[in-house]
Amino acid sequence: MIIAETLKALDTAFKRWYNKLAAFMVKHLPLREGVTVLEVGCGRGGLTIPLMEHIHERCQIIAFDLFSGPYKGGREKLQESITDEGYQDRVRILQGDVRKMQEIEDASIDVLISNDLFCDLDRAGLKEALLEFHRILKQGSFMAHGEFSPYPQNKHQKLMIEADMHSLVTMEPRPNWFSPSADEVAGLLCNTGFCDVVVKYFKTGIQVKGPVAITTLQRWNIDPQFIANHKEQLLKNGFEFPMEHIFFCSKP
Ligand SMILES: C[S@@+](CC[C@H](N)C(=O)[O-])C[C@H]1O[C@@H](n2cnc3c(N)ncnc32)[C@H](O)[C@@H]1O
Repeated sequence: MIIAETLKALDTAFKRWYNKLAAFMVKHLPLREGVTVLEVGCGRGGLTIPLMEHIHERCQIIAFDLFSGPYKGGREKLQESITDEGYQDRVRILQGDVRKMQEIEDASIDVLISNDLFCDLDRAGLKEALLEFHRILKQGSFMAHGEFSPYPQNKHQKLMIEADMHSLVTMEPRPNWFSPSADEVAGLLCNTGFCDVVVKYFKTGIQVKGPVAITTLQRWNIDPQFIANHKEQLLKNGFEFPMEHIFFCSKP
């Protein structure tokens, strides 16, 4: 368990975790040399940059995101990181909506990855997105989608899930789940025509406590009343990220 009590420690914990997640996804995907990976809902590139460190140097990434609502400004941050790391020739940013990806041709993608995207879509939006993924993926291609589990394993994880449900700024339409359950996603993937669905669990192990727990929830636009009501608990024990579950599947 990594206990972060300062913003710097939290930042370091996130970096380590994203790095492990990128390694885990790449290990379980048949990533041939030279393929282009489409990362949907890439945001500021928390996963994009470590993915670049783990994929073959002849592979490229298309980083796709809407960059709107609470995530406005993400494109500029991502561009900055790409430039800082010297990945300009291998990462291309594309702005668009996963529910209607007119920017991407039918059967043109080999590998599609996302992390924490489904939590920002409602059920109808997720169904639309999965249909789009099916349309743009080639036959015999692969996907991996990471999400935090909506089932808390202890009271600190429960607090984080409850806090998230009190966010004042969300994507539209506002999703009514913290994230979809594994069974729900597996069912939707199968109904959309994907096969070989496997769910793997990945321990996050990040606990945030003390004043930084409060600052973090404020940055996430959590209702100040919720934060005030849980101030003592946040300062003493903080909140903890739930386990991450990752859905792997393929398009037959
Ligand atoms: C919780 S963030 C995760 C960002 C990044 N994947 C990570 O793990 O750090 C969710 C991302 O999904 C993007 N997103 C949400 N709805 C989207 C949509 N309909 N189309 C494209 N991107 C979307 C948001 O803009 C945001 O960058």
